[in-house]
Amino acid sequence: MTSNPIPWDLLPDTARMVDGRLHIGGCDVLEVAERFGTPVFIYDEEHLKTRCREGVDAFDDGVAYASKAFLCRAMARIAHDAGMHIDVATGGEMHIALAAGVPGDKLVFHGNNKSMDELGFAIDSGVSRIVVDSFDEMDRIEALVEAGRPVPSVLLRINPGIDAHTHEYLQTGVPDSKFGFPLTEGIATEAITRARESRAMEFRGLHAHIGSQVFDVGNYAKAIASLAPFVNESSAEEFSIGGGLGVAYVEGEEADTITAWAETILGAAKASGISARILAEPGRSIVARASVTAYTVGTIKDLPGVRTYLSVDGGISENPRPVLYGSGYEAFLARAPESLRPMRARIVGKHCESGDIIVKEADLPADTVVGDILCTPVTGAYGHSMGSNYNKVARPAVVFVANGNARLVVERETYDDMLIRDVG
Ligand code: LLP
Repeated sequence: MTSNPIPWDLLPDTARMVDGRLHIGGCDVLEVAERFGTPVFIYDEEHLKTRCREGVDAFDDGVAYASKAFLCRAMARIAHDAGMHIDVATGGEMHIALAAGVPGDKLVFHGNNKSMDELGFAIDSGVSRIVVDSFDEMDRIEALVEAGRPVPSVLLRINPGIDAHTHEYLQTGVPDSKFGFPLTEGIATEAITRARESRAMEFRGLHAHIGSQVFDVGNYAKAIASLAPFVNESSAEEFSIGGGLGVAYVEGEEADTITAWAETILGAAKASGISARILAEPGRSIVARASVTAYTVGTIKDLPGVRTYLSVDGGISENPRPVLYGSGYEAFLARAPESLRPMRARIVGKHCESGDIIVKEADLPADTVVGDILCTPVTGAYGHSMGSNYNKVARPAVVFVANGNARLVVERETYDDMLIRDVG
């Protein structure tokens, strides 16, 4: 147990203490919560822009933002304006990015089961690259081109068979994976031969994504070293190493910067003699620490000899990560971010299940009371994007803060929104 205040390095770049209260982007978090209601995702716009620029600089423009981590039009514009491509993994993500004004030729289209409609949409939108994941997908692309569509440029997703030491569900490059063409049994070679020979695909290169929330960047060097002969033999012009750089969520965790990650990757590529242009697709490392979620404390239930349960007005609907991956988070009060946190409590949501846990063992100020605005930091990635409205809990608002201004970028869902598609 720790009673330390929240570590400042888990907060967004512009987080400051002003009169004892937390300000982000020059805005008082308590005022933002009051004005927009809770739960609310509060993103530091400067932090987002800085990370996007860092990615572009580090990878010499060869970088796409993995929009699955967090996507709304405002985010797509920030990534695009910084010079990033945008990685979209479904027709839905592609639609949002295009609706933000991102040109099709700045999109990279992913997915292990792209439908005919999605592939047609991607080709019609002129996406920069389709990252092909299966022979069945090749059949679909060939059928689309046969029917008159233009020939798309493709990368082939290769499964390198690497254990990236992260949560089982976040590993994608192990031998037993649904993603990509495995290197084994000549399958990847067969895929390259087919792509090269096909008149329906312009083969540009290869792609490998080893997993997500990877702390040890040495895993990337390993993957690159093992893939290098293959990349060179295929005469790939481009080689994308995917995303996956880990971020710190709780006190004591340490993660590399995007710049250091890029140095490892580019250094390994050089050392392995790869001549292809190196591309990358960070998601989490761009957006995770940019946001804090602000909740209102609704109940504090002390069960003598058992534990204290503290309920907030959200839960697994806006942060399913603790229940899905056992992910840890910290918590603190916006009115007192530098307070010691000697009170141990389990922070839970308002959903009808016991697994609805936001922080399993949270440390909080001893004077935490009902009505307090409680924040969890590092919620910018895979929170809003994986949200649901389970129990018909409305999806939270998303607010961007910068230079003393708070602007709503995604409205809170309303009860009536939940009836829009209920046509029975
Ligand atoms: N590229 C590809 C092909 C991917 O599949 C992913 C993530 C990324 C890039 C971006 O990875 P990142 O830099 O964000 O780690 N829901 C999980 C994470 C799933 C990641 C899926 N793919 C979580 O909440 O931890």
